[in-house]
Amino acid sequence: MSVQIPKTMKAIQVDAPGGPEVNVLREIPVPTPKEDEVLIKVQWSGVNYIDNYFRTGLYPKEYPYTVGIDVVGTLITTPPNFHLKPGQRVFSPASAAFAEYTVAASNRVALLPDDIDAKDGVSLATQGLTAIGQSKESYEVKKGDWVLVRAAAGGVGLLLVQIAKYLGANVIGTVSSESKAELVKQNGADHVLLSTADSAENVAEINKLSGGGVQVVYDGVGKDTWEENFEVVRRKGTIVTFGNASGAVPPFAPLKLTPKALKVTRPSVFSLINTAEEFEYYTSELVKIVRDGGLKFAVHKVYELTAEDVAQAQRDISGRGTTGKLLVHVSD
Ligand SMILES: NC(=O)c1ccc[n+]([C@@H]2O[C@H](COP(=O)([O-])OP(=O)(O)OC[C@H]3O[C@@H](n4cnc5c(N)ncnc54)[C@H](OP(=O)(O)O)[C@@H]3O)[C@@H](O)[C@H]2O)c1
Repeated sequence: MSVQIPKTMKAIQVDAPGGPEVNVLREIPVPTPKEDEVLIKVQWSGVNYIDNYFRTGLYPKEYPYTVGIDVVGTLITTPPNFHLKPGQRVFSPASAAFAEYTVAASNRVALLPDDIDAKDGVSLATQGLTAIGQSKESYEVKKGDWVLVRAAAGGVGLLLVQIAKYLGANVIGTVSSESKAELVKQNGADHVLLSTADSAENVAEINKLSGGGVQVVYDGVGKDTWEENFEVVRRKGTIVTFGNASGAVPPFAPLKLTPKALKVTRPSVFSLINTAEEFEYYTSELVKIVRDGGLKFAVHKVYELTAEDVAQAQRDISGRGTTGKLLVHVSD
C-alpha cells in the first residue's frame, strides 16, 4: 500500500504547564518514524486522566509537547520484516495522540481485529492494559477473592470491575454518585458504595461484605482514599495505588504495613507491561476477554480535535462527572 503522506498535520500542543486553556491547535510537521517505529494515521484518540498530570506539570514533560496518549488508526509505514503491514487497523498507547498522525514504537502496536469497534479499541490501549496489568501482575485476582475498585465508573475503573468479575472475584466498587453506582452495577459489580458517604460506615460495610476485608484494593484516587485503604484490606492484603485523581499519596513509613503484613505496590502500566512479549500477551488477553463477552465499553462523550474541545475534555474528566471512555475524533 502506498499513500501520500502530507508534510504537515493538525495537532494539539502545550508550551508550558497550566490549566486546560494552555492547549493550542497547531499545524506541525508529520513525524518521521525511526527505524523501530511505525507511522499511524489516527482515527480516534483517548482522553486519559494522565493528560492533566502532564499539563499541570505533576509529571515531567519537555515542552512543547503534543498532547494525548492512545490511538486507534491505520498503519502507514512499518519497519522492514514487521509482522503487521501498512493499511492494517491498530491500537496503541502511543503518545502525541491528539494529532492526525503519530509514531509508536513497533513493540507498542497491536492489531485491532475487525470484530472490535474502532471506538472501543481505544479503551484497549492504556486503560485496558492498566486494568489487566493491575489484575494479573500487581495483585493476581483469584476466583472468590474480594476486590475493591475505587472510582469504579471511570475509564480504568469500569474495565477493572469487569476484568475482576471475569477472573471470578467478588467486586465492590466506590463511586461519587448514584448514577455512577447504577452503571457500575450494570457492568457486573456485586456491591457499589458511595464515596461521599461517611467513611467509617463504608469501612464497616466493606469489612462486613468481604468477611474481614478485601484481598486487594485498586486505587486510582490517591490522596483522599489512601488512609481508608489500610482499614478495608484484610491481613496479608495488597493495596495497589496507581493514580492521583485527588492528589498524590503522601510519603509513609513501612512500619504502617506491619500490623496486617500488608503489601503496597505503585506501578505504572509500562513498568508492569514493558517487553514486546508482555505487550503482545496482554493485548491478546484483552482481545480474548472482549470476545468471551467479559468486557464491554461505555463511551461517555466524543470530542473533536480542537483546542476548545480538548480543554473541555480535560475539564470534564477532572470534574468527576464522566464515566467510561472519553474520545477525540481525529479522522473518519
Ligand atoms: N499507573 C498507571 O499506569 C495508570 C494508567 C492509567 C490510569 N491511571 C490512573 O488511574 C486513574 C483513573 O484514570 P482514568 O483515566 O480512567 O480516569 P477516570 O477514572 O475516568 O476519572 C477519574 C475519576 O477519579 C475519581 N476521583 C476521585 N477523587 C477525585 C478528585 N478529587 N478529582 C477528580 N476525580 C476524582 C472520579 O470518580 P468518582 O467521582 O466516582 O470518585 C473520576 O471520575 C487516574 O488516577 C489515573 O492517573 C494510572
